[in-house]
Amino acid sequence: MTHDTTGTNRQTSPLHPYAERFEVHDTMPEHGVAREQILSELREMSTEEDRKGDSGRVSGSIYSGDHDHYGFLVEAFGFYAHANVLQRDMYPSATKLESEIIAMTASMLHGDDDTGGLVTSGGTESLVTAMLTYREWGRNRKGIKHPQVIMPVTAHPGHDKGMHYFGIEVIKAPVTDQYVVDLDFVRDHIGPDTVALVGSAGTYPHGLIDPIPELGQLAIEHGLGLHVDGCLGGFIIPWAQDLGYPLPPFDLRVPGVTSISADTHKYGYALKGSSVLLLRPKSLRREQYFMIGGWPGGMYSSPGMGGSRSGGLIAATWASMLSLGREGYRRIAADIFRTADEIKAAVRSHPELKLIGDSLFNVAFRSDEVDIFHVNDALTDRGWRMNGLQAPPALHFCVTRPNTQPGLTEAFAHDLAEAVEYAKSPPKPIPTSGAMYGAGGVQPDPERIFAGLANRLDAMHEVGPKDGARPHSHL
Ligand SMILES: Cc1ncc(COP(=O)(O)O)c(C=O)c1O
Repeated sequence: MTHDTTGTNRQTSPLHPYAERFEVHDTMPEHGVAREQILSELREMSTEEDRKGDSGRVSGSIYSGDHDHYGFLVEAFGFYAHANVLQRDMYPSATKLESEIIAMTASMLHGDDDTGGLVTSGGTESLVTAMLTYREWGRNRKGIKHPQVIMPVTAHPGHDKGMHYFGIEVIKAPVTDQYVVDLDFVRDHIGPDTVALVGSAGTYPHGLIDPIPELGQLAIEHGLGLHVDGCLGGFIIPWAQDLGYPLPPFDLRVPGVTSISADTHKYGYALKGSSVLLLRPKSLRREQYFMIGGWPGGMYSSPGMGGSRSGGLIAATWASMLSLGREGYRRIAADIFRTADEIKAAVRSHPELKLIGDSLFNVAFRSDEVDIFHVNDALTDRGWRMNGLQAPPALHFCVTRPNTQPGLTEAFAHDLAEAVEYAKSPPKPIPTSGAMYGAGGVQPDPERIFAGLANRLDAMHEVGPKDGARPHSHL
């Protein structure tokens, strides 16, 4: 137990492990803390926390893991960290960098002269922006008042978030026994209020690519938008063809695709906080521009969700793409695909386990014979951090560059074998792990999951539990 600056007791907890190690700043210090102390605390926490990701035993989350690359990106970031790129008269370089990020992404994903784009703060913002675009397009071009979007159950919740924000009705299409969208369902549910369809390349749960050409045909036949969520796969799947892996068409080469998202902060190996949304035709981008006149602050316009934005992330994203080049991306992709192949071989060697589909980079597996979360418990005990999935219960190992280290797949195969044995006769009936996104499979109590999630979100924004009465608001 330690005390914070106001003398209140503070205890460590899983979300607040530093409460007893470093001073808890409940109020701003009267006098500035020495820079060296600040940097030393940050260094200590980040060095310890990086150890997990750098070990190579983590699924997804960390995409590059190359600290020399990060150092270079941070240098590029530093030139513009303070620059507000909304002010283009001051920072015309932002136009060069941003437009080149968009152009390079569009050429990788086979856009044409009528492809436009936006750089957003991440995958979710790209998806939310795409949903807003289709709502506005439907309203402005077709007079649709109650817009509807059809998306597969496997598509990312960022779409749901956008539809929730913007009052769009979502129709969830089931997936086939191959875990890709059920086209018959989509076809049967297109109606007069449908503004867009969604497909993924690849899906977060299983890394699979929905049948994009068929969705494109439906979009053309019914005059609808088609968003392809390539947030996860957009910067890794494109290299498959060059490397001799079979690749179904998924990008802007496919007729009917009207937008695609691809995250630079995932397999683009940029710093966290950037993604690209491409739109075709270019005029779609205008549907979500925001402009307002008559404000005493002046005429206002912004190209996307953000207002002021840091030039640092744009510079770092540009620097990542340029410094790696196509050859660099291809080289890392080759290592990732090879590693995924080796992980798939390890999974296949256990008759108790079943692969879900055959993803190039995101290996999902389930079991009819053992509880897959017991397998996860045993892997967790051995230092692995898999992602837990549901419907069906499964795990995935989303392979990234840190997982390509020598010896890693052999270690995984060894530990997986022990984990399957453990799961055959687990010492306790209920596994500790479950399917909770963003928490490495740790699930507190499935019965009270939503209350638990809300409490956790609250706790993530507070300095930690403290003694004393809670304040009351009138709301
Ligand atoms: C397929 C897919 N789409 C969208 C997202 C959302 O991306 P972000 O977490 O950057 O908002 C993810 C994240 O993993 C994803 O896997």
